[in-house]
Amino acid sequence: MATRKTSKGKGKARAKAASKKVVKLRSKAAAKKANGNGHLPRPSTKAWGQAGKALTGVRILDFTHVQSGPTCTQLLAWLGADVIKVERPGVGDITRGQLVDVKGADSLYFTMLNHNKRSITIDSKHPQGKRVLDELIKTCDVLVENFAPGALDRMGLTWEHIHKLNPRMIVASVKGFGPGPYEDCKVYENVAQCAGGSASTTGFREGPPLVTGAQIGDSGTGLHLALGIVCALFQRNRTGRGQKVLAAMQDGVLNLCRVKLRDQQRLKAGPLTEYSQYGEGVPFGDAVPRAGNDSGGGQPGWILKCKGWENDPDAYIYFITQAPVWGEICDLIGEPTWKTDPEYATPRARLPKLKSIFARIEQWTMTKTKFEVMEICNKVDIPVGPILSMKEIAEEPSLRKTGTVVEVDHPTRGKYLTVGNPIKLSDSISEVKRSPLLGEHTDEILKDVLKLSAKDIAEIKNSGALSAPKKEEKAA
Ligand code: COA
Repeated sequence: MATRKTSKGKGKARAKAASKKVVKLRSKAAAKKANGNGHLPRPSTKAWGQAGKALTGVRILDFTHVQSGPTCTQLLAWLGADVIKVERPGVGDITRGQLVDVKGADSLYFTMLNHNKRSITIDSKHPQGKRVLDELIKTCDVLVENFAPGALDRMGLTWEHIHKLNPRMIVASVKGFGPGPYEDCKVYENVAQCAGGSASTTGFREGPPLVTGAQIGDSGTGLHLALGIVCALFQRNRTGRGQKVLAAMQDGVLNLCRVKLRDQQRLKAGPLTEYSQYGEGVPFGDAVPRAGNDSGGGQPGWILKCKGWENDPDAYIYFITQAPVWGEICDLIGEPTWKTDPEYATPRARLPKLKSIFARIEQWTMTKTKFEVMEICNKVDIPVGPILSMKEIAEEPSLRKTGTVVEVDHPTRGKYLTVGNPIKLSDSISEVKRSPLLGEHTDEILKDVLKLSAKDIAEIKNSGALSAPKKEEKAA
């Protein structure tokens, strides 16, 4: 039976057609926006994980050494970039020979910061070496360096020179300080921790400033630089141009210490009531003090002893007296009356008494191991954190399972543990490949990347640009 559209039905059909049109128009616009050529991006036809990594196709000329720069390029390599590490012939990255634990093998210092890279040796001050570098600059997307200020320019690799050879090149640098009075200074990790505000705010009030074990100056700045590089690559898609990226270690540390600059400004409004110093009645000065193990946020916390602390330096737990679970804490430690006692019932009432409250909680934690405290507290949503030793972390099965702690085999040192990529991308899985031996890929890079003939390669090699000067020559 034929159906006849009523006027109401016709209206509905018109609205449907109109909405289809709108959808069509929108999707065309979206397609144009998506890739600029009017085609909607299609999903990869390759199997999951086979479609390449996030940074596949990006080639990095890695002039980094020690820790800050190598952290950055290692991360980019894990994410799929082809990282070509340029090293001084015969010497290489100085860390290869620092803190050596296996005679004749690259140190763990080096191997744990240079996974997934290729190594080429080039004397960047030799005329033929410079030529090779110029050719590499033409084929790479990013040059990363963390030399002392001015060293790259002294090699002749000024921004102008690089940009003329390859206008798409991104030049990324770690320096100790940004422009200003200290811009010419050489900087290592702890210098940055001190100059970035970390040391003055770490440690106990009664003691000297302290540096932290976490390498926030080196590795932290490497992470900042990696983000800057990825952003510059993204912007280059629109502009077609490279740019300079600078991550100063002082700035990187300060960025990680921003809560302390927050507190510096809060001092004007009165004492910092969440610092235990407040409860202890010690007046504040005009700069943020060291706060021991106080929590940096609004929920008070402290490190407390657990069972076995007398013999085990890591038998401790970080305990946070988060306000919403105050009742649960009182029940656990056997102080149920604190739930309603006006002296304890509110976060404000508790602030001046934090020291004695934590002492009472510690009486309870000392009856349990840190793992027992963790288990009991987590069941009732009390945030706590066991103080894990590096031994415990190295042996933790769940970290092995996620690839955060990885065992790697190395031809001269054998098996060792390293930290894998802490950033997990579901379609760009990081495999951790051992670090390169010094100059291991020199021939491969000259041949496959620069497409040089065997004759050209032999000529460059004979010039001495890729090898260490002979001892007699050095003496002469
Ligand atoms: N061929 C020839 N020469 C090379 C070379 C190569 N492949 N690679 C490096 N060099 C040279 C440099 O050109 C430089 O020579 P120059 O001073 O005559 O110009 C020299 O090696 C040393 O470089 P430099 O960076 O000064 O090393 P350093 O060991 O004296 O200082 C740092 C190390 C880390 C203090 C310094 O590099 C620095 O302050 N870097 C910036 C901040 C930073 O990253 N610090 C953290 C390190 S984890």
